[in-house]
Formats: sequence, structure tokens, C-alpha cells
Amino acid sequence: MADSNGNTGLMLKAGYPLGRGFDAAARLNLQHYLFKDLLGYELHPNIPVRSSDSNFRVADIGTGTGIWLTAVHQKLPSAQLDGFDNCVDQYPPKEWLPSNVSLQALDICEGIPEELLGKYDVVHVRHFLLVVNDDPLILLKNLVALLRGYLQWVEYDPSSVYTDRIDPDLPRTATEEFLATIKSRRNYDWVAKLPEYFEMTGLATSVSASYPVPPGMRMSFTYVQLLAAEELSLVALDNSGPESSGNVFRRLLNAVFEESKSGVSMVWSARVCVGRRRS
Ligand SMILES: C[S@@+](CC[C@H](N)C(=O)[O-])C[C@H]1O[C@@H](n2cnc3c(N)ncnc32)[C@H](O)[C@@H]1O
Repeated sequence: MADSNGNTGLMLKAGYPLGRGFDAAARLNLQHYLFKDLLGYELHPNIPVRSSDSNFRVADIGTGTGIWLTAVHQKLPSAQLDGFDNCVDQYPPKEWLPSNVSLQALDICEGIPEELLGKYDVVHVRHFLLVVNDDPLILLKNLVALLRGYLQWVEYDPSSVYTDRIDPDLPRTATEEFLATIKSRRNYDWVAKLPEYFEMTGLATSVSASYPVPPGMRMSFTYVQLLAAEELSLVALDNSGPESSGNVFRRLLNAVFEESKSGVSMVWSARVCVGRRRS
């Protein structure tokens, strides 16, 4: 994709590139349910939990709307469930949260407050593709500092995405261009290498699993990804004129949508990594 200045790929403005309004909140919540269906769990079954122990503590980092913790509450009604995000705009009122769920402000890239060090039996992080800048190591060290137990990291894995189509003659130019464009500005190799990064930060990797989106869920995943990409175009691209990068990118999204209706699909996989703190 080239804009009016001849730039290819996505030149993103600085800062978090997605929205934080009601549409972004609805997208996150929908994506949560899609992931729940895809994975079949919120917490990987290999992670030992103590459902009736009020000293069992779970942290969700970059919690967004807090929906993952609200779902975990149903399985762990006695545990202390803490959500952290550097932006609190999508948090529900605390009066409407279960009493064992608390949502607070924290920038995980900054230092960790003393009182949180080594306090969590489980730390969960999900959908940080646009937060990590090529190298997850600094972030991972801060996540590990929170731990006394298990880290679960859930991510779309751009290294394994490909296009599929119901008929080999169907055009898939837009879908391929979309994938090439989103991969072109960042290095996402770290997702497939998460187990190596886990080992580097003192975690013993106990799970590294890939969950390809099955055909019956492809359209739903496509819609959610197009929504996220549209948000990104409005927040982080240049929308100053009809041929600026935001408008050009949104035309591409509509072309991907048209291709998907005729039977062309991106096939994404989710990667789940679970690691246990060694000491
Ligand atoms: C794509 S959303 C995912 C939200 C949630 N994890 C989920 O799966 O529904 C990424 C979240 O990370 C948060 N975030 C970005 N940078 C952060 C940072 N440095 N510290 C804490 N949270 C951050 C964003 O505000 C946003 O809520």
C-alpha cells in the first residue's frame, strides 16, 4: 500500500494505536468471547488453581475492559483478581465489578510497585502485539517480577498466518496486501519465540500451543480484525486527505471484506505460552 507521499506499509503516529471508545471496548469484549471459544478456557488447565482460597492472586496486565477477569471470577470466586492498565478509560464502575475484582492504573513498562513484587500466583497478558516493540524482554522481566507462580501469555501469531480460499481462482490480492502491510512495520517474530524469552527471564515453559482458527470461526475473526484495523487507521494513520494513508488503508479493509464474502480468508492462529517461575 502506498500513500500520496509514496510511503509503503503503515507509518503509525506515536502512542497506543487503537481506540478507547465504546466501539473499541465492544471489539475487545467480542474478541474475548471468540478467544474463549477458540481456546476453550480462560486459564490453561495445566495451571494449578485453588478456587476457594482467598490468598490465591491473579493479575491481568493491560486488562482493557477487565472482561477476562470478570470471566475468571466465575471459576475463582474467592481469589483476589487484579487488573492493571495504563489507561483506565474502558474500566467498568467498580460498583458493578465482583467484589474480588479490582482494576487499577499501572504502566507495565515502568517499574513495578514494591508491594506487588512476587505477589501473584498467576499473571495473564493477552493481545499485546501493538504494545511490544520488537522485543518483549523488558516487559517480560516486569511481568516475571509480579510472579510467584505462572505466567500465561495469549497472542495472535503473525508468523503463521496465511490465506485460504474456497476456490483457487478467487482473487485474494487485497487479503494478501493487508497481511503484508500489517507485517511490514513491526517485527513480530517474538511471538513464536516466546518460550525462548520465557527461559531467558527465568521461567520454565510448561505450555507452548498454537490454536488455528477453524473455518466456522474465520468470518467472525475477520470482522474483529477489520474493526481493529479500522480503529488503527483512525487513531494512528494520516487522515488529512482522501489519498492519505488512513483513507487508503480503509479502502483496503473494504476490499478484504469483499474478498472474505466470496470465500477468501486469513487463517490466523492464537499462541498460548505458559511458564512457571523457577525461583
Ligand atoms: C489490545 S488491548 C487488550 C486488552 C485485554 N488484554 C484483552 O485481551 O481484552 C491492549 C491493552 O493494553 C493496554 N496497554 C498498552 N500499553 C500498556 C502499558 N504500557 N501498560 C499497561 N497496559 C498497557 C492498552 O491500554 C489496552 O487496554
